[in-house]
Amino acid sequence: MPNKHHPTNIKWHPTRVTPEHRARLLQQHGCVVWMTGLSGSGKSTLAVELEAQLIQRGHAAYVLDGDNVRHGLNADLDFSPAGRRENIRRIAHVAALLADAGIITITAFISPYAEDRASARNIVNSTRAGATDRFREVFVDTPLSICEQRDPKALYAKARRGEITDFTGIQAPFEAPRAPDIHVHASAHPVPDCVAIILEQLQDFGV
Ligand code: ADX
Repeated sequence: MPNKHHPTNIKWHPTRVTPEHRARLLQQHGCVVWMTGLSGSGKSTLAVELEAQLIQRGHAAYVLDGDNVRHGLNADLDFSPAGRRENIRRIAHVAALLADAGIITITAFISPYAEDRASARNIVNSTRAGATDRFREVFVDTPLSICEQRDPKALYAKARRGEITDFTGIQAPFEAPRAPDIHVHASAHPVPDCVAIILEQLQDFGV
């Protein structure tokens, strides 16, 4: 599979439907709400609740979740830094396409490396015309001690026993965002409050 990142002899085919047409139809602007945080921090819970509330308000929304996507599209990727980078790169492109389709796209991936998150923002913002930033980084900020205590999938325990060797927070780093667009302390506030904080920040997209 040589040169997959730099395709040659391929041209972008324009469509007749513009982002404005889609915005008029859907009464919203497609965007990407990018959740980042440790395993067990509450990303998926928040993503699922945010999606449900958006749909309830008549918005088109869709969640891309780490565990789900790694079963299919990214089943070939490991948790090495390079595997995670490729995971995030592919997700960013999928999220950009969904946002192009006008959908409020919510992603829930650990995405532990600041550089990978920055390139995700770049991908999401550079795949279509127009200069506005349609990427919102949400830091689901739950202390490692609480994530480990919750350990919903018993993976922290496995990592401590050495049965997983590259687990985020134990043997692999989590680079916390320094200036996230939205910062939620998911262990200190109930889920509906955290969702409300995120919803408030989506007004630019018609929410
Ligand atoms: S990411 O680092 O590449 O963004 P992603 O969000 O797709 O990770 O997947 C994380 C999920 O995979 C975790 O919630 C956990 O259930 C599972 N997992 C399995 N092995 C690991 C590991 N070594 N580090 C982190 N998560 C892991």
